[in-house]
Amino acid sequence: MKKVNNLITGVAGFIGFHTAKQLLDSNEPVVGIDNFNDYYDPSLKEARVAELLKHENFTLVRGDLSERQTVIDLFSNYQFDKVCHLAAQAGVRYSLENPNAYVQSNLVAFMNVLEAVRNYEVKNFVYASSSSVYGKNTKVPFSITDRVDEPVSLYATTKRSNELMAYTYHHLYGIPSTGLRFFTVVGPYGRPDMAMMLFTDAIINDRPIKVFNQGNMERDFTYIDDIVDGVIRSMDTPSGYRIFNLGNNQPVKLEYLISCLERSLDKKAKREYLPMQAGDVPRTFADISHTTEKLGWKPTTDIDDAVKHFVNWYKSFYHYQ
Ligand SMILES: NC(=O)c1ccc[n+]([C@@H]2O[C@H](COP(=O)([O-])OP(=O)(O)OC[C@H]3O[C@@H](n4cnc5c(N)ncnc54)[C@H](O)[C@@H]3O)[C@@H](O)[C@H]2O)c1
Repeated sequence: MKKVNNLITGVAGFIGFHTAKQLLDSNEPVVGIDNFNDYYDPSLKEARVAELLKHENFTLVRGDLSERQTVIDLFSNYQFDKVCHLAAQAGVRYSLENPNAYVQSNLVAFMNVLEAVRNYEVKNFVYASSSSVYGKNTKVPFSITDRVDEPVSLYATTKRSNELMAYTYHHLYGIPSTGLRFFTVVGPYGRPDMAMMLFTDAIINDRPIKVFNQGNMERDFTYIDDIVDGVIRSMDTPSGYRIFNLGNNQPVKLEYLISCLERSLDKKAKREYLPMQAGDVPRTFADISHTTEKLGWKPTTDIDDAVKHFVNWYKSFYHYQ
């Protein structure tokens, strides 16, 4: 059994890739696993992993965590101190179309990983939750002491379930675990199913941007480097059972995001105003006082800079002049 400090699941995904890269850049060895599913273009996942494979300290495993034997093999081959579990079926809207994908990747796979964390005596378990657990909550900003028992999508339900499963394993087996409620993460190598990429594609290809809830949507967009900083701080400080909000604490209207993109791309957007979509929430806004107090974490990138970094990456990655 080979000792490797860090396991990152979902390593070909947006946040997994950036987290692994940051660790590798600091000379930390990383094993990463991903099933490269086609929820969005797998060639973007391959491109991310190709970057990671430039580091000799990186080991890639291709496999599906909802298969129990795959997880057992992984933990039998390597001894991990820290497990950062980011693999999941993401996306709120898709959970209305394909609920089973969420059961497999967010419940079955999560349970397989949690059992391995217990059986192989991992010292710290960090996993992705989501701001979507706040569901119908209208009190802002969203605080970790707010009630979270009214999720409005199956995606949110699976994320809240993860927090409860981790609680039980902490209670029964003393596993230090940290659930991170990410708030709409943006930046280079971002997800093609999320607003930043969808809007950019629409502007460039002269298609109208679908603006839901007649434009009255606000999101607490959070830059990827700030998110990675919060993930790594959590990995470095095992302690009891914790939940942290990782959000920018500065919600902006979607209209504002569109205007930033127009400026960066030097092109006007066409807009198609539509009603609110089922499963969505009108506003997200993170209270980060607890995260700052316990982790010393504070976001440092505003939406204007986040858009600039994203657009620069987009132009070079997709060869757009
Ligand atoms: N990006 C955000 O704004 C955001 C917000 C809140 C929560 N999250 C959560 O953060 C985590 C990472 O999100 P992301 O944006 O990087 O998403 P992503 O879809 O880019 O990454 C997830 C990765 O997990 C892999 N995966 C899915 N099911 C798997 C399985 N059964 N076995 C192995 N690999 C599997 C996918 O192939 C993908 O590469 C997810 O848990 C997501 O729910 C993300």
